[in-house]
Order: sequence, then structure tokens, then C-alpha cells
Amino acid sequence: MNIKGQTVAVLGGKTGLLGQSLCSAFAEAGAHPIALSSKDCDILDPQSVEEILNKEDPDILINAAAYTQVDLAEDEQEKAFALNATAPPLLATLAARRSIPFVHYSTDFVFKGDKTSPYTEYDETSAFSVYGISKADGERGLLKLGYERTLIIRISWLFGPGRINFVEKILNLCDTHNTLTVVEDQFGSPSYTPDIATGTIKLLKKDATGIFHLANSGQTSWHGLASMAATLAGKKNSVTPVSSSEYPTKAVRPRYSVLDISKYTRTTGMTPRRWEDALKEYVQNELGMHSEE
Ligand SMILES: NC(=O)c1ccc[n+]([C@@H]2O[C@H](COP(=O)([O-])OP(=O)(O)OC[C@H]3O[C@@H](n4cnc5c(N)ncnc54)[C@H](OP(=O)(O)O)[C@@H]3O)[C@@H](O)[C@H]2O)c1
Repeated sequence: MNIKGQTVAVLGGKTGLLGQSLCSAFAEAGAHPIALSSKDCDILDPQSVEEILNKEDPDILINAAAYTQVDLAEDEQEKAFALNATAPPLLATLAARRSIPFVHYSTDFVFKGDKTSPYTEYDETSAFSVYGISKADGERGLLKLGYERTLIIRISWLFGPGRINFVEKILNLCDTHNTLTVVEDQFGSPSYTPDIATGTIKLLKKDATGIFHLANSGQTSWHGLASMAATLAGKKNSVTPVSSSEYPTKAVRPRYSVLDISKYTRTTGMTPRRWEDALKEYVQNELGMHSEE
């Protein structure tokens, strides 16, 4: 489809980490993004979403709203399932009534993490955490609904402008702690939200539907990501690797959740840049920090 001139309703677009980058990317592509927060409409209340859709009459509906607090979800199961599992099919139903594309995001945390090669769209989901299980349920609900203009994009390890994220947290900690300890035995694909946003537009331009994996190219551990961010920002702190057993968290995270993005590349003809290049742009251009050359 042609993106230029289209009105795009972005749930989570006002305050969300990804949602804000989506709005910027759609505006850049000549579309008219409508950034929506939970105050504008509550995705748990389809009528409030329908009212916004009636008012704005969008050509595309994007759901970048979700329950994203991975550890807290273990204690707030009901809320996590309501937002991540119940809401997406209700939103897709609203899009179906208007015959407009519906885009939804899922996560690498739907996988258990016991593979040693990148996860493809054809691998079975088998999450450990409430967050991962709720997101996998959301995917299943969408597939069961069967609205043919649904695009589900699984993404991973987001960093980017507009909202506090892992990279920014690490760089803030560098100002208050000489030594940081970061988990070294969980591997994934760090992804820059502006790259996920432009990748989404590329998939929409190809009228892609179904499940796609999308991330920056390459893989690393949380320790690798933190170390690289500190280096690019010119921080002299020591970043010490620890195993996840030394840093227990409430939710069990996958040890390995690298996403295979070859279906995305085959469909769009594009390979996302490496995560190190995207991180450099974020740390140095967006946050304005520099390494001493
Ligand atoms: N962050 C990551 O590393 C990561 C990794 C893999 C996948 N993902 C997936 O990517 C998507 C975007 O994640 P994100 O990190 O950008 O999320 P985020 O920054 O936590 O933003 C979530 C958004 O959801 C909105 N929201 C929450 N409850 C709502 C409700 N009842 N009605 C309407 N809006 C509501 C929030 O808006 P208000 O502030 O107005 O409440 C907020 O803007 C999610 O599907 C997530 O599962 C994220």
C-alpha cells in the first residue's frame, strides 16, 4: 500500500517507546499519524477506541500499546493478560469492521530460549514468564480471529528516544556508580525503535500480513549492549559481567532469543543495519554523548 497521505492511528503513540518512533517515521514518510494515549482511549474499552476511530477515520490501525513491565507482570497477571491477550483481538475486530490494516507488536520473550540458533516465525512459542505467555496468547487470539489484514511483528530489546529504556538506564547509572554489573548469559538482538518503525512501514508498503520477526542485525548479551553503550558515550566505568543466577529477577527471561529476520529481508529486500551502528546513532546523535577518539 501507499503510505503517503494515509491517516495512521497509533495506540501507544503519545508516550510509548516504540509508539513515538512510529509517529515520527510515519510523519517522515508523508503520512498523518494520530498519536493516542490511554487518556485518549483505553484499549480495554473497545467502545472508547471505536469512538476515536469514528472521529479520526484512519486508514491504518497500529497497536503499540501493551503491558510491558516484565517483572511486575508476575504479580499483575490479570492486567498483563487483559492488555496483551484480550485487547489485541478486540482491536483487530475494530480494524476488520473498517477493512483497514491492523499492525500489532509481539516479543522475543514468547520463546523459552533453549535454542542456539535464531528463532524463526515457524518456531513454537513456549514462554516462561507471565509477560511472554500473555503476549503469545495475544498472537494466538489474533490468528484465531483470522482477520486477513493483520500484521504481527515480533521485536526485541528496544532502545530509542522518548522513554527511559535499558541503554539510557545504563548510561544514567554510569554517572552514579563506578562499577556496573550486567548479565552476560542472556543473548538477543538489540533494536533501535526508529529502525523498527521504518521496517514496519516497509512491510506495510509490501502489504505484508501474518507474523514477521524484525530487529537490528547481529546479536549480543545485555552485558555486550551495556559495554558498547558506555564505550560509545565515552564513559570510563567498569562494566562487569555476571551470570543470571547471580542476578535473580522475578520473571524468568529466555537465555537466547535472537530473532531470525530473513523473512523480513526476503519480503522487503532490505537488511536492517547492525545493532552497533544503530546504537552509535542513538548514543551519539540522539543523546549527544561521545567517546574520546
Ligand atoms: N520494550 C521492549 O524492549 C520490547 C521488546 C519486545 C517487544 N516489545 C513490544 O513492543 C510494543 C511496544 O512496547 P514499548 O516498550 O514501546 O511499550 P511502552 O513504552 O511500555 O508503552 C506502552 C504504551 O501502552 C500504552 N497503554 C498502556 N495501557 C493502555 C491502555 N489501557 N489503553 C491505551 N494505551 C495503553 C501506554 O500509554 P499511556 O502512557 O497513555 O498509559 C504506553 O504508551 C509492545 O507490544 C511490547 O510488548 C517491547
